[in-house]
Amino acid sequence: MISIKGLRKVFTSNNKKLTAVDNLTLDIEDGEIFGVIGYSGAGKSTFIRLLNRLEEPTEGNVIIDKQEITALKANELRAARQEIGMIFQHFNLLWSRTVEDNIAFPLEIAGVPKAERMEKVKELIRLVGLSGREKAYPSQLSGGQKQRVGIARALANNPKVLLCDEATSALDPETTNAILDLLVDINRELGLTIILITHEMHVIQKICHRVAVMEQGKIVEQGEVLDVFSRPKEQVTKKFVAQVMGNGSDDETKDTSYLVENYPDGKIVRLHFIGESTNQTLISQIAKRFPIDINILQGKITQTQAGGYGTLVIQFVGNENEIQNAVQYICENTSVEVEVIHNVQ
Ligand SMILES: Nc1ncnc2c1ncn2[C@@H]1O[C@H](COP(=O)(O)OP(=O)(O)OP(=O)(O)O)[C@@H](O)[C@H]1O
Ligand SMILES: [Mg+2]
Repeated sequence: MISIKGLRKVFTSNNKKLTAVDNLTLDIEDGEIFGVIGYSGAGKSTFIRLLNRLEEPTEGNVIIDKQEITALKANELRAARQEIGMIFQHFNLLWSRTVEDNIAFPLEIAGVPKAERMEKVKELIRLVGLSGREKAYPSQLSGGQKQRVGIARALANNPKVLLCDEATSALDPETTNAILDLLVDINRELGLTIILITHEMHVIQKICHRVAVMEQGKIVEQGEVLDVFSRPKEQVTKKFVAQVMGNGSDDETKDTSYLVENYPDGKIVRLHFIGESTNQTLISQIAKRFPIDINILQGKITQTQAGGYGTLVIQFVGNENEIQNAVQYICENTSVEVEVIHNVQ
């Protein structure tokens, strides 16, 4: 487990103090993929660099696997860092070395004998899907391939933790997905704990188990991805949710009056879906069970690795009792919440 307590980083430049990370306390479980999301300047990179002391904390402590990183002397820290891999937005590869020599580099530093090194490099190249590119130089690789080299290099010393600083931000959406899939495979196969920071909702939703939202050096909200995003409390979290869900609540209120004007019959309800993929067949279940018509008026549902969340606005038309039965059925048999927007008297 990674335990972070009261972590602070104050930068001083031109006699001005800036608190980049402010009293941050957080626990990360073994084997989880933990995401930190925040806008530019929130302090994400500073935070992740404090974990392996690429930045020295001003205050607070970091414990990784019972070892207090913040208490280590320089030579102890060098050893501890072998247990903490890191990948970067701009890959940070050695341009004059081939793919295999880049991957071998941390093994050389760790003093691993040549034969063992070559064996390990081979295994890593296979793991990250770079077979056939061993002798290429970074300049001959695509962005996705460069990041695969970065990942292989980070895994060379069998770390327990992988830190990812905007690892997909320089990649196109398709390549981003391929790299995220690779991270999930590594997490499952090697049981590696992954901490990743990003400003992209897609990255968090696709692979993270838990998320923390960071603003001005602080964590303002944290929890299971589905919980945090389906019921965002803080303004900054709501803004991130709007990235994937579109309009904010003001527009929704407007849309409702428009809907009522244009669809005056029956009952208009907004269904709130959170998780449980079984609920996703709800509309067809209702259509089969009740002799009523269902008109889909508006919908915004997005997927996370733990299931979807979002809302669907529908109109029920038909016999009043049957409509009532349908609503009751949803309330009693599913975890979908029903909000009545309009009811014809
Ligand atoms: N070495 C430094 N010296 C002084 N200030 C710094 C230093 N590094 C970061 N900062 C400041 O700390 C704050 C947090 O920066 P940080 O790079 O951690 O943010 P970030 O969330 O990673 O942003 P981005 O999404 O743009 O990468 C910013 O105001 C930044 O200017
Ligand atoms: Mg950053």
